[in-house]
Amino acid sequence: MQEEKIIIKDKRFRKFIEKSEIDNAVHKIAKRINADYEGKTPTFLVVLKGAMPFAADLIRYVNLPCELEVMSAKSYGTNISSSGEVKLADFGVKFAGKDIIIVEDIVDTGLTLKALYNNINVHNPASLAAAAILSKPDSREVEVDLKYTGIEIPPYFVVGYGLDYAEYGRNLPDIYILDN
Ligand code: IMP
Repeated sequence: MQEEKIIIKDKRFRKFIEKSEIDNAVHKIAKRINADYEGKTPTFLVVLKGAMPFAADLIRYVNLPCELEVMSAKSYGTNISSSGEVKLADFGVKFAGKDIIIVEDIVDTGLTLKALYNNINVHNPASLAAAAILSKPDSREVEVDLKYTGIEIPPYFVVGYGLDYAEYGRNLPDIYILDN
């Protein structure tokens, strides 16, 4: 049993979403993907590093033949807010003709997902969609198409289940929110 309150570096966080609730949300997304991509072989494009735990759980609920690729996206800013400047690295993934599902940890301003869409679309995938375990709809600065959302949260900073504060907290099984 994880603590209800934890300290990471200089900040205090309190438990916000239990592992069981996260797991239910992941399962629901997988069910929808299983139905939507029936007869297809989707490629899950995992956005490093935050989406690793979500992707690992999601693909094990998917019962379709599928491929797994990774890409890295870094948005620069402070430890708790993004700057809007996004740097992508695609490690030479071949997107053409594939049914790509971007797997993200969280969609906040939407700038990272938008940059991913722009970058991948020029390579002519057969289709392109995105899944994120968390979304902060009230923080959007740009409109993005997020087909599969796990849990919607208010515009506050969270850690755990892949999400970090200054690179710490990614290994927490539950999700924690900044406790002021
Ligand atoms: P964007 O603002 O939608 O571009 O989000 C970019 C990235 O910022 C996400 O993929 C996360 O890695 C990170 N991020 C956004 N909100 C949070 C948060 O609450 N905790 C930790 N990382 C976050």
